[in-house]
Amino acid sequence: MRQQSDDDRIALHARDVHFDWSSLPPHWIPGEPFASHLLDVLHLLLPEGERWFVRVFSSALPLVRDEALAEDVRGFIGQEAMHASSHQGAQDHLAQTGLDPSRYVEQVEWMFGQVLGERGLDGDAAQEWLIERVALIAAIEHLTAVLGQWILDADGLDAAGADPTMTDLLRWHGAEEVEHRSVAHDLFTHLDGRYLRRIRSLMISGPVLLRLWAAGVAHLCRHDPQLRGTRAAKVRLRDYLRASRRGLAPGPVLLARATLSYLHPRYHPVHHGDTDAAVAYLATSPAARAAENR
Ligand SMILES: [Fe+2]
Ligand SMILES: [Fe+2]
Repeated sequence: MRQQSDDDRIALHARDVHFDWSSLPPHWIPGEPFASHLLDVLHLLLPEGERWFVRVFSSALPLVRDEALAEDVRGFIGQEAMHASSHQGAQDHLAQTGLDPSRYVEQVEWMFGQVLGERGLDGDAAQEWLIERVALIAAIEHLTAVLGQWILDADGLDAAGADPTMTDLLRWHGAEEVEHRSVAHDLFTHLDGRYLRRIRSLMISGPVLLRLWAAGVAHLCRHDPQLRGTRAAKVRLRDYLRASRRGLAPGPVLLARATLSYLHPRYHPVHHGDTDAAVAYLATSPAARAAENR
């Protein structure tokens, strides 16, 4: 059942954004290599992850028997494709600066391409595997909406003098995550919607993403030419806790609350996140405004 009223519906559309990384400092939060790389992990994880979202949702689209939901799914696909290509640009820039992400990205490609790929199934088995992956994406989209809202509210980045282009990329993406936060949940509810499957999907995807994220920041700090031979090349839990206290990383309490909220039997994304704040950011985002005028 779709819970979002027609009045709340936003017609989702992809924005043709572009970002120029030519003057991006290596540690784009000044003096904060750990916090910079903690968020840089998104450029390594998301291109493959979001291209996988696009493949799965494109396969699920013919199963949708509700035209409004089908329209949302098409809007979601367009936005996620643009997120993937924008983070790919940032990843390519990282690679050009001597920070070789290839070993880590290969693992990410293996996970989304092989482990979570098509598996050569057909008939009912193929459909079951498709719905299982939609459930996983719905759980991940809960987390991306939480992270999106966090980045919109993250005054700590502004106070720390974070690079405006990178901040805009993250906030444009975060705002669109908030904007389309109901689509994956609505699609999963339309195709299956079983509570235990929904919860199981978060219990699988949450720890896997946490582990991948930790491995990603460790990889970036270890391969950062500027950190070679320094203590900052090795990441520690206390670095994360310090960054979260300074408002440069989503904190453990926020992540624990996000997990608990998903367990509620009447959970719906529309009750979490601030659509008005997302729309307001998109109205002022330099990249989104340039896209509207293009
Ligand atoms: Fe996205
Ligand atoms: Fe998303």
